[in-house]
Amino acid sequence: MRLLFFAGSAREGSHNKKLARLGQKVAEANGIEAVFADLCDYSMPIYHGDLEDAEGVPERAQALKALLAEYDGVMIVTPEYNAGIPALLKNTLDWVSRVRTEPDVFRTRVFAVSGASPGYYGAMRSLLQLREILAVGLGATVIPQQMALPGAMKAFAEDGSLVDDTRQKMFADVVEALAVAARKFAA
Ligand SMILES: Cc1cc2nc3c(=O)[nH]c(=O)nc-3n(C[C@H](O)[C@H](O)[C@H](O)COP(=O)(O)O)c2cc1C
Repeated sequence: MRLLFFAGSAREGSHNKKLARLGQKVAEANGIEAVFADLCDYSMPIYHGDLEDAEGVPERAQALKALLAEYDGVMIVTPEYNAGIPALLKNTLDWVSRVRTEPDVFRTRVFAVSGASPGYYGAMRSLLQLREILAVGLGATVIPQQMALPGAMKAFAEDGSLVDDTRQKMFADVVEALAVAARKFAA
């Protein structure tokens, strides 16, 4: 059973990338094989139907789908932009959904969502929207456990862990819940 973590931000200093990397570390500390993928390595043009008709689905969307297919559980850690998910993340999911090869990577593995924001609500509204897109739009199974991390500017210690022990434990519990669900799903 293997887990994949990625963030809906391409920014180098992204809080959400930090949280996704922390998820990978927590998983590994629990003996679970896990990787972090950076969407910087999968940049794609904005979805355009004419572009798809003329050139097909971008190679990077195909590569990301192939990567997703290698993992049993996926955690997406997303920022919140104007109360919703960033265009980068929606565009990435839209393109990957256009790759028509088997397996359907959304229906055949388990997802978890989490988010971080400098504000008070920890990207909560973005998480609600991402849940809906994954479950309703893409037919994915999304576990109920999630982490909405507020005050992200001051939330991380130098080593990438969360300063607040309770939050660190809560996040570790989300990763564990994803691992448990992914194991069941993969069986
Ligand atoms: C266009 C835009 C809209 C934003 N809207 C929200 C918002 O609705 N809620 C929120 O908590 N933060 C909002 N933010 C602040 C982001 O949470 C902040 O930039 C965050 O650091 C982005 O995530 P990252 O650190 O992973 O790149 C917004 C930022 C941008 C650039």
